[in-house]
Amino acid sequence: MDSRLQKRVQRYGWDRASEDYARYWQAQLEPVQTRLLEVADLQAGEKLLDVACGDGLVSFRASEAVGPSGMVSGDDISEEMIRRAEALRLERGVENLRFRRRDAEASVDAETYYDIALCALGLMYLPEPERALGAMFEALRPGGRAVAAVWGARRNCGWAEVFPIVDARVKSEVCPLFFRLGTGAALETDFKAAGFSDVSSERLSYDLSFKTAEQACGAALIGGPVALAYSRFDDETRDAARAEYLASIESYRHGESYEIPGEFVITRGSAAS
Ligand SMILES: C[S@@+](CC[C@H](N)C(=O)[O-])C[C@H]1O[C@@H](n2cnc3c(N)ncnc32)[C@H](O)[C@@H]1O
Repeated sequence: MDSRLQKRVQRYGWDRASEDYARYWQAQLEPVQTRLLEVADLQAGEKLLDVACGDGLVSFRASEAVGPSGMVSGDDISEEMIRRAEALRLERGVENLRFRRRDAEASVDAETYYDIALCALGLMYLPEPERALGAMFEALRPGGRAVAAVWGARRNCGWAEVFPIVDARVKSEVCPLFFRLGTGAALETDFKAAGFSDVSSERLSYDLSFKTAEQACGAALIGGPVALAYSRFDDETRDAARAEYLASIESYRHGESYEIPGEFVITRGSAAS
């Protein structure tokens, strides 16, 4: 897919998903976001860039960790995500945090150099994730560090069939190459190509727990990357896609609830001084 088209699909897709994202995904993603923050080992006073920050699930936690003498900048391509994040920031009265709309593949303004750059579950959506890693590298002070988390290998993510199910009903794929970075050492390779050294990775696996079919379908079809395509389906197409998705996760059903395997890769690298 043409990269400009992919970015438009992402931007407007996440605008559409923004209202439902935290409701369906916050609890599911909490363990991987916690591990990302542990690997990041944030210190009071640090300046942090949170790339593809969404509505700020990681940014708010990071802003607490760096404290009032630190600063967090959260960037995302979706206007709606940024609007929601900013509304939450004002509601919570958080002062060491700002949000702005920025394409992760574009250079970061040079008004400051960051101690650390994070990207939680954003790189899979980019046409050229290595460019985003390059922009993160350039934004870091010498000796700074970056940590990114992506979904793991397709075969270890039980919800993966949602992509072909939706793609079969639209003209262009929603997330081409979604699982590329989580396969083998691909994310490490991209970190190294962007200039990072001392690169290391770990895999994290756990089950995503959904109490009902409505929650499992909501996460896959309404609160995530295929939200825009799904919202444009007519009722019949929606019902068919939903039924096919439920059939694809049937082996993970326990009574009413679902325990769907998920795998993540967390990679860290240094911008050597
Ligand atoms: C799964 S959400 C992750 C949000 C947040 N990091 C978290 O962990 O909750 C993926 C985010 O990537 C953003 N995104 C997709 N393509 C992007 C791009 N080219 N530049 C910046 N953000 C992008 C989406 O708008 C969306 O908010």
